[in-house]
Amino acid sequence: MVEEVLNRCTLQNRRSLFVSEPVVDRNINARGTVYNVQSIMPTNTYIKDHKNIFPITSEVSKKGELMVGGCNTIELAKQYGTPLYVIDKETFASKCNEYLTGFDSLYKNSLILYAGKAFANKAIFSIANELGLGLDVVSGGELYLALKTNFNKENIFFHGNNKQKDELELAIKNKIGRIVVDNYHELTLINELSQKYNQKTNILIRLTPGIECHTHEYIKTGHLDSKFGFDLDERDTLLSLIKNKLQNISLKGFHAHIGSQIFEINSFTDTISILLDEFKYAKSKFNFTFTELNIGGGIGISYTNEDDPFKIFDWIEKVAKTIKLKCKEFDLEEPKLICEPGRSLIANSGITLYSVGSSKQVPNGRKYIAVDGGMADNPRPITYQAKYHAVAANKINEKDEELVTLAGRYCESGDILIKDIKLPKLNPGDIIAVLGTGAYNYSMASNYNMVPRPACVLVSKGKSEIIIARETYEDLIQKHK
Ligand code: LLP
Repeated sequence: MVEEVLNRCTLQNRRSLFVSEPVVDRNINARGTVYNVQSIMPTNTYIKDHKNIFPITSEVSKKGELMVGGCNTIELAKQYGTPLYVIDKETFASKCNEYLTGFDSLYKNSLILYAGKAFANKAIFSIANELGLGLDVVSGGELYLALKTNFNKENIFFHGNNKQKDELELAIKNKIGRIVVDNYHELTLINELSQKYNQKTNILIRLTPGIECHTHEYIKTGHLDSKFGFDLDERDTLLSLIKNKLQNISLKGFHAHIGSQIFEINSFTDTISILLDEFKYAKSKFNFTFTELNIGGGIGISYTNEDDPFKIFDWIEKVAKTIKLKCKEFDLEEPKLICEPGRSLIANSGITLYSVGSSKQVPNGRKYIAVDGGMADNPRPITYQAKYHAVAANKINEKDEELVTLAGRYCESGDILIKDIKLPKLNPGDIIAVLGTGAYNYSMASNYNMVPRPACVLVSKGKSEIIIARETYEDLIQKHK
């Protein structure tokens, strides 16, 4: 069953996704459509052995060069320069379809939001919109981009623990789908602004369910001592305030996001049980009938072969089963299920190409190979000790014979992209592809050391197009007075 769903996704994408053409055929992707079965199987052994990390269109040319989306990465590096983010359209759409088809078969009353913070980009927002996904935004900036993309407003959800008045105003004026309310300050502000615009704003309340998941300290959010959301103990005060005082607000349900890069399905099903228990409480004590359950994102992915994430379909199966079971147990109508994956949609669609520059052999120590990017275009290793995998994109078929450490170009000793990785013998000018960089790389990139941010290209069917231009030195000083 799992294979079948994955396969169905793939053919649809192969058929319909071309760079610069309508992103997808709306009729084909309408939810519930049955897709034909065919899969893309990598032929190269190395890619086969790492297939969860590479974009799904990865192949190797006769010359042993990495191809993605039908484009030769060495040619891309020549044409656009390095560092270069490369996003494979087909991988992204295929991941979206995994969620869409999975939920279509197991829990149709659902909406999958792309968590825009993973990679906020017009082209990616457009694809998500065309495929029928919604969007999770966390700032006025992301919302502005979504509006500029003509994203279906009804499907936009606005998150954040300290949304600013002007940001809320932008959301309310544009009548976006939902505001996910994090605290009392925001709640009253939304009510006031809604009064001003003479409308009722649809909201969800973010709860902190007290779930400890095993992920990096900085990306846990559902535990009790968290800056996000309302504590469950607040429920009486909160629900009575909404029921009795805030007339311009319509509460549709609860939300929780327990963290990111999570590998245990139980953390999600426990969250669902807790939230539905709160549905029951709100119904019995305050006569609220909630219709929406939003369980956030956080589904883990493979950055290296050591990561062992669950299959998206298995997650959907357990999520659907738990909701159905708990609703029966608590005598509730089955709500609309909303989820907000970011990383699991975009991370493995992206690779970053770097050029090899200087190197240094520490006597009796490590060999450092420096590339032309690093912590400013990928801050995840230095921030979360995140591990990545890389290949020499122009030497895929050569033997990995040297243990090296890939160092960045920035003025910090901690600017190491990958510690101790076996790669072929490298020379200046060789091209390194770091894999799985589609999520939280560009979106967290900085201009540290006054280095312009790289360009980003979207590849599909042998064509490439710039979706974010490379910054110039002029861009860097433009705002300086
Ligand atoms: N929903 C909410 C409310 C969130 O805060 C997040 C992520 C998501 C959904 C999407 O989570 P995902 O499916 O991508 O795990 N910069 C960190 C990740 C921070 C995640 C923040 N919130 C990293 O690079 O690992």
